[in-house]
Amino acid sequence: MSAGLEQRLSRRVRQIKISATKEMPMLAAQVGGCVSLGQGIPSFMTPPHVVDAVAKALRDDPAAGKYSLQPGMPGLRRACAELLRAEKGLPADPETEVAITVGGMEGLLCAMLTLVGPGDEVIVPEPFYPSHVEQVLLSEGTPVFAPLSRADWSLDVDAVARAITPRTKAVIVSSPHNPTGAVFAKADLLKLAELALRHDIFVICDDTYDALTYDNEAAFSLASLPELRPLLVGVFSFSKRFALTGWRVGFLWAQEPLLSQMLKVHDAAAICAPTPAQVAALASLAGPQDVYRDMRAELEKRRDLICARLDGMGGRFRHIRPRGAFYVMAEAGPPACDSRELAVRLIREARVITIPGGAFGPGGEGHVRLSFGGDEAEINTACDRLAAWASQL
Ligand SMILES: Cc1ncc(COP(=O)(O)O)c(C=O)c1O
Repeated sequence: MSAGLEQRLSRRVRQIKISATKEMPMLAAQVGGCVSLGQGIPSFMTPPHVVDAVAKALRDDPAAGKYSLQPGMPGLRRACAELLRAEKGLPADPETEVAITVGGMEGLLCAMLTLVGPGDEVIVPEPFYPSHVEQVLLSEGTPVFAPLSRADWSLDVDAVARAITPRTKAVIVSSPHNPTGAVFAKADLLKLAELALRHDIFVICDDTYDALTYDNEAAFSLASLPELRPLLVGVFSFSKRFALTGWRVGFLWAQEPLLSQMLKVHDAAAICAPTPAQVAALASLAGPQDVYRDMRAELEKRRDLICARLDGMGGRFRHIRPRGAFYVMAEAGPPACDSRELAVRLIREARVITIPGGAFGPGGEGHVRLSFGGDEAEINTACDRLAAWASQL
């Protein structure tokens, strides 16, 4: 880019970047023949009952191909409110407290642009999901990192407490966690809520992976805490739970009048979530749930497979066993190495796409993030290649 153009761009765009999660597949496309442990996409097809519902709506319902109401289809908002009530004990009012968004991502952006401005600080546990940080920067706020415990990627509430200043506006929490696969302990989340209440800090609770936990453990969500509600923005997604990543649909929960303030951003950015995607979301919620339980069971098997394969690599890809989401942070050393250099080498020399851990913050350095969203054959091929590569070092 010419210096002239760069100077004419807005400061907020100059200071953000495309995340490495998207960059590595682009590099791999130039190299060719790569197998991916990169981007966080569950391999599952959209279930047939969802495809049928969308096809039928598009054939029979004149409203299905048009804008929906700006906060989303009323039936879908009711179904989302019911899900929040049933799973988190959150008595959501579908009329005033729930809005359907373009994936969890747009919900997060609505929250950030509504709450954060120049001079505001947002605490982000680190390693972090890169888009959380980019969105804080896009809102012209300052991300302040609170490192997770390096021993087990647990939430270090003391680190969060140390990060609080008079300028702190919000803290972002996401459990199960991307990129570490950690599921934060209820006791730590409760301590974090206490801090937020004491310092009057908003909590942006990104529950994108809430349904994906293993070993018969459920994730505790701060969305279930009554006393936190005035400070809470809940961000939810259909992408991972229902394997609808490409449909781009999620939802937001906040009390009035905060929700209607966020809806101003939603209107300016998207008008409404795509109506066919909302039909898919409603069919996913209303249809048989064992499809999704089976997907989760399959992901658990893949977690077991990838951990066993990595364990068999002679200490080369040491990791903390993930308990949720579908990521493993694997430490590549010894010797310690630059994670971007390593990920590029793995693409060029092993033909395996991984995401450099440094893209998730300083605590991710020396690691690569491996996704086990792909099927067993992909995981096995990738691990065969990683093992062969490691054995030549
Ligand atoms: C932690 C986290 N939040 C939000 C998102 C965005 O999800 P979506 O916009 O597909 O709902 C992702 C996607 O990977 C994520 O990992």
